[in-house]
Amino acid sequence: MKEKYICLTGLIFIMLLCFCACEKPGTVQPGKIQLGVAYYNQNDTFLSQLNECLKDQLDRLETDNFEVIMTTRDAAGSQRTQDDQVKELIDAGCNVLCVNLADRTDPSEIIDLARENDVPIIFFNREPVAEDMMQWDKLYYVGADAQLSGILQGELAADAIRSDKKTDRNKDGKIQYVVLEGEPGHQDAIIRTESAVNTLKKGGIQLEKLSCGIANWNRSQAQNRMLQMISQHQNQIELVLANNDDMALGAIDAYEKLNYTESALPVFFGIDGTDAGLQAVLDGKMTATVYNDKEGQAQAMAELAAAVVTGKGMEEIEFVNGRYIYLSYYKADKEHADAFVK
Ligand code: BGC
Ligand code: CA
Repeated sequence: MKEKYICLTGLIFIMLLCFCACEKPGTVQPGKIQLGVAYYNQNDTFLSQLNECLKDQLDRLETDNFEVIMTTRDAAGSQRTQDDQVKELIDAGCNVLCVNLADRTDPSEIIDLARENDVPIIFFNREPVAEDMMQWDKLYYVGADAQLSGILQGELAADAIRSDKKTDRNKDGKIQYVVLEGEPGHQDAIIRTESAVNTLKKGGIQLEKLSCGIANWNRSQAQNRMLQMISQHQNQIELVLANNDDMALGAIDAYEKLNYTESALPVFFGIDGTDAGLQAVLDGKMTATVYNDKEGQAQAMAELAAAVVTGKGMEEIEFVNGRYIYLSYYKADKEHADAFVK
């Protein structure tokens, strides 16, 4: 009898141990996603529109017995601030994180925090370097193929130049161009510029680079850079390639400020297809943009978040190199821009 009793208490003890081990913070809690989203800068036009899409996607996941809570934080450009915000999100009980790194080369602190608490991270839009992605096996990335966006921008520009001989305003057989670049060190900035320019060259367009200005994705910085470039090169600029729509719009603002007549304007190309970018294409102010599929990215983030939390549906997700999801880009010229307007 006594032996039986010892056996039974032993069994209960082992069961209790098992139960406690399963209750570590951050482990699977089916029935609830508590998602913490950390943005590098919520004033960023593309990201603020992506955030709206993410809310829509999370609403769709919610059912009577599946709760979804989303908490967002804005690092205003500082990695230090973001590190603290991620800690707060984890302390508040988030069981998955979406992180848009302030400094894409410096995610170690965040990765350590997440690993200690077993909270998976889906990085998005600002891609960590490959070595950092290898630090832990619960790190994922959702973004888009930067090279493709540059190729599509280059093709759109080459088509426009070929179909309108007036683009070469000084008729020297070359297209004098300037580039407005995003943040230095951002995967999309360097690659977009290179692949757009190479695509134009491959398309048989003779180019002459006049200048290049960094405007950090920002419309008013782009306006200022453009005003400087116009004053340096007066009426010589025939083409403006911008790494995103906000900077293309800033360049257009600069010419509007100087009251240029339409026939003296260069042609402008952006990337993103933000609401204002698409409108500028429809109005004929921007020749074309390349649609950055925020709906697709938001959907991939939401589905992946649900899969890592519930442990269900992971097999159906198509990863590149096991942990990356890249969405496509699409051409949006005047004829096709309408299709992307919500
Ligand atoms: C977008 C930019 C945005 C940047 C932020 C890029 O992919 O095209 O508009 O500012 O991401 O990281
Ligand atoms: Ca020319």
